[in-house]
Amino acid sequence: MKLFDVYPLYEVCPVKAKDVYVYDATGKEYLDLYGGHAVISIGHSHPHYVNRLQEQLQKIAFYSNAVENPLQQQLADQIGEHSCLHEYQLFLCSSGAEANENALKLASFYNGKKRIVAFKNAFHGRTSAAVAATDNQNINAPLNQQQEVTFIPFNDAKALENELKKDDVCAVIFEPIQGVGGLDMPDDDFVFAMERLCYQYNTALIADEVQSGFSRSGTFFAFQNNNIKPHVITMAKGMGNGFPIGGILVHPDVQPKYGMLGTTFGGNHLACTASLAVLEVIKKDRLQQHAKEMETYFRSRAEKIKGATIKGRGLMLGLEFNFEVGPLRKRLIYEKQIFTGGSSNKKVLRILPPLTVQKAHFDQLFDVLEDLL
Ligand SMILES: Cc1ncc(COP(=O)(O)O)c(C=O)c1O
Repeated sequence: MKLFDVYPLYEVCPVKAKDVYVYDATGKEYLDLYGGHAVISIGHSHPHYVNRLQEQLQKIAFYSNAVENPLQQQLADQIGEHSCLHEYQLFLCSSGAEANENALKLASFYNGKKRIVAFKNAFHGRTSAAVAATDNQNINAPLNQQQEVTFIPFNDAKALENELKKDDVCAVIFEPIQGVGGLDMPDDDFVFAMERLCYQYNTALIADEVQSGFSRSGTFFAFQNNNIKPHVITMAKGMGNGFPIGGILVHPDVQPKYGMLGTTFGGNHLACTASLAVLEVIKKDRLQQHAKEMETYFRSRAEKIKGATIKGRGLMLGLEFNFEVGPLRKRLIYEKQIFTGGSSNKKVLRILPPLTVQKAHFDQLFDVLEDLL
């Protein structure tokens, strides 16, 4: 049977990984500054993570959400501790798109409206409403185009208010730091305006933290740089360090009802254990603080690269050049064994390493860039 061919592949086949490195079958070592697309948070095969999962696997790996699973409450308590959002409620699922799909659906249940406002260059995933709120017509099938979505630019509070005034918008969904779109961020004033206007017009504000959450940006959630209270916060990638888990945090104003949301796999024993292990390592190894320190170091070296603009925050970073970076990424992989990320802005080289990355790893990148550019 052939694989359904939807991904252009690099000719690299990792068979083993450790911390910030992956290895192919010949033992060739690659520096992973891409983190499998911002997924690897505490480093590949972290011993605490491996032990926790092995121990859990010996006990019970899965049972349905029809019975009690205390690991879900432990995870809720730990996310509360890390984020200081104790009053929010946790619902677990298995991916970023599913988290956004649930968030949008919940918003519509909450206020009875159905149009979505999203932003230019947004990426929210590939399921029905999430992909419709993604600013890329190429990945929207005619089926998805049934959703009513209006795209506006960041920082245009007037345009936002004009849409919300029509009183049919269930949700405004935004990425505090755009991922796939190329690391643009809304201005602080606009973030506060979004919160104020959403509360004023009875529209749910959804912060998509699928990529920026779980300490990657230097705060637990990137929106916490602005101290707002979104109605729903969505999360996934770094949450499980590679184990598929996603979730939403729901503001106490939004009340649950039986059957409103549901899932077979979400919140299973292994998934919760993976995420608990991630939070334990983030706390013990001070990885959130470390992300900030590494950003400072990255900037100090990146400033010396001529013609490059630094984008992003924490360890969700990018270098914007005045040329398309596709060929450079290929050279980095094939000649220098360094994984980096791309973006829908083809001039942005994205850097999304495990949060355990060290100065020496950035030195390796910048020495190579100085050589190649
Ligand atoms: C901001 C954001 N939201 C949602 C998603 C979709 O997540 P998933 O691929 O787990 O469905 C992504 C994936 O890149 C993302 O970056």
